[in-house]
Amino acid sequence: MNAPVRITITGAAGNIGYALAFRIASGGMLGADTPVELRMLEIPQAVRAAEGTAMELLDGAFPLLRDVVVTDDATAAFDGANMALLVGAMPRKAGMDRSDLLAANGAIFNEQGKAIAENAADDIRALVVGNPANTNAAILRAAAPDVPGERFHALMRLDHNRAVAQLAQRAGVSAGEVSRIHVWGNHSNTQVPDVAHGQIGTKSVRDAIADEAWLDGEFVRTVATRGAAIIDARGASSAASAASAAIDHMRDWALGTREGDWVTIARPSQGEYGIPEGCIAGVPAIARDGEWSVVTGLELAPALRQRIDASVAELQDESAQAAQLGILGA
Ligand code: NAD
Ligand code: LMR
Repeated sequence: MNAPVRITITGAAGNIGYALAFRIASGGMLGADTPVELRMLEIPQAVRAAEGTAMELLDGAFPLLRDVVVTDDATAAFDGANMALLVGAMPRKAGMDRSDLLAANGAIFNEQGKAIAENAADDIRALVVGNPANTNAAILRAAAPDVPGERFHALMRLDHNRAVAQLAQRAGVSAGEVSRIHVWGNHSNTQVPDVAHGQIGTKSVRDAIADEAWLDGEFVRTVATRGAAIIDARGASSAASAASAAIDHMRDWALGTREGDWVTIARPSQGEYGIPEGCIAGVPAIARDGEWSVVTGLELAPALRQRIDASVAELQDESAQAAQLGILGA
């Protein structure tokens, strides 16, 4: 057995938090050899509901679950945390844009970044799920300047998984047959799914799905607007699929990505593909031994480049807005 890993979930009583906790407790994130300690942060009004979730976690009799603490105190929630899933934030409702969420949610990440800086373990790795996820991750990172920047990620794995699933469905194969695709940019409808290097089995995506119009049109639109389509159908934003994607992201960070494949992550840019340094945009990446490396050297067609630039510009606008609101670098 490995040493226990302490994991903080913020917004633990919410829809995504509820789905996450049980996957983590059952070993779905860190595997069957790693015990976990959960720290569940909520706002005071939702602590009772989170306590109910903690009761259910106990009732699950999970052999790997060593300890559960429910609290409304960020200091206690991040105390000694090795991993943090920052979900606690208001979700988008029908008719809202992600930018509408910045004013509502951004301040949460400024405060929680400070709590991470002061209380988390030295090896803290944080994934922001709460929207607007990329800019909230930038706010979190700026509030914890002594923690290495590459430890702050935003969730783009859901966009990645959506792209994989659309391609698999169209080709009539399982999702596991699709590899080497990724999604550039912001977790918003400006995102840029990229299949140029993708494979389905041993064929290129463009050979396996011989329909350029679909690949360049409906596929891209479906993936980029899937969040709104789910809100429209469910009357609530995606929850189980978002939790599953967050689990995939953290599992790969800890245990490594699949041999011969890459996935999408968003972490502070180190200038790869001309994305400005520090910008938290979706890029292709591989994880080995707990470290991510961005896949470099991929050719970008001019039209794709333009769309990536537009999505990155949107991220820079969001950051400028956050700075104006006094929540980025405050
Ligand atoms: P939800 O409303 O069901 O749950 C959110 C929870 O966060 C609530 O229980 C709330 O009390 C709690 N919360 C609010 N402020 C908090 C704070 N300061 N500290 C701790 N907890 C706090 O929402 P949900 O469906 O779980 O979604 C959560 C967030 O995730 C939303 O912002 C949503 O837009 C986002 N989301 C992101 C992705 C992605 O791919 N990045 C996908 C789906 C949803
Ligand atoms: C999603 O992509 O499902 C979430 O980010 C929810 C949303 O607001 O789109």
